[in-house]
Amino acid sequence: MKLLVTGGAGFIGSNFIHYWIKNHKDDEIVNIDKLTYAGNLENLKDIENNPNYSFVHADICDPEAVKKAISGVETVVHFAAESHVDRSILDPSSFVKTNILGTQVLLDAALNAKVKRFHHISTDEVFGALELDSGEKFNQDTPYNPRSPYAASKAAADHLVRSYQITYGLPVTITNCADNFGPNQYPEKLISLAITNLLEDKKVPVYGDGLYVRDWLYVEDHCRAIEAVLEKGKIGETYLIGTNEPEISNLELVKKLLKLLGKEESYIEFVKDRPGHDRRYAIDATKIKTELGWEPTYSLDQALDITVKWYQNNQDWWKKLKGQEYKDFYQKQYGKNANL
Ligand code: NAD
Ligand code: DAU
Repeated sequence: MKLLVTGGAGFIGSNFIHYWIKNHKDDEIVNIDKLTYAGNLENLKDIENNPNYSFVHADICDPEAVKKAISGVETVVHFAAESHVDRSILDPSSFVKTNILGTQVLLDAALNAKVKRFHHISTDEVFGALELDSGEKFNQDTPYNPRSPYAASKAAADHLVRSYQITYGLPVTITNCADNFGPNQYPEKLISLAITNLLEDKKVPVYGDGLYVRDWLYVEDHCRAIEAVLEKGKIGETYLIGTNEPEISNLELVKKLLKLLGKEESYIEFVKDRPGHDRRYAIDATKIKTELGWEPTYSLDQALDITVKWYQNNQDWWKKLKGQEYKDFYQKQYGKNANL
């Protein structure tokens, strides 16, 4: 089978390509990626000469480039996106372009190329925010209520994907996944930022009261869930992906990281809250578990341990990323706390 992976040089996309190549040795993968600040070919260095892998440096908003890349493809796995909520608050324009227009360009190309499957990678953020301690969870029937420009752009993309199935019969599936962490995550998201800051003996910025709740999934478990949907998922269906872990606040999570890295709690710095910050996400993943037999295999503690070790052992990888672009973003985002 030939797959087109979009955004394969980013965090989850590169983990997915590694996972797929290891477990599906006869398949061919074409990776199309614009290489934004978040795209990094270092993530794929070990497979760049693999005859079953090729790279196309292009923007998914470019119809000609996408048309070429999709030729002969049976399955599209669409990861490419602007993915960081805080950047979407600073400037939503690239989120609208890539996440909405880019998805529409891909959908048109997929339709013309008569692909057998268009799998769209989405997020639990499209459902909005849950109350703390309400016991409520998101499921595939939860109404959309996106609350950040990032979430709104992903929600628009999800709607477009569904509309192409209903209107034109494009064979689509969608997954909405919880927060991921693991190797190769750009150091702007809470876990990768916290670990790398602590390794540099800097503090960890915690927004607001730190009592926000996310569902933290190890990236390899996400890749296995996508595999389950590609192999056994039903056309037109949506599957939510989340963990079996007890809920944990950002503050408790950061304390786990401090412990793993041997740092005192004085390394926590409470900073100005994110505007419109979603209080709590929680996923009911019953559908993917019962219908497709997927279960997460890593506990939070196991996966945090692996992840911390990875950042300890790959300091060249992330230190290179904390250059001028990163410093400019950090300054804008964390303002007077920029020297944390
Ligand atoms: P990332 O920011 O690490 O990587 C995004 C990749 O897309 C980069 O390689 C970037 O160069 C590429 N890209 C961006 N704009 C592009 C364009 N116009 N054309 C081609 N390539 C482009 O993102 P990630 O964390 O790996 O997320 C991947 C996908 O998974 C996204 O769709 C995101 O919404 C979704 N998702 C992420 C998480 C998470 O916790 N990170 C959770 C659920 C869903
Ligand atoms: O839920 C899935 C989503 O998870 C994905 O769709 C997004 O692409 C991904 O970025 C992630 O979004 P979050 O906003 O949940 O992740 P982030 O790591 O930015 O923040 C996690 C929590 O930590 C959130 O409550 C905000 C808080 N936070 C984050 C940063 C960067 C802090 O307290 N301090 C920080 O410096």
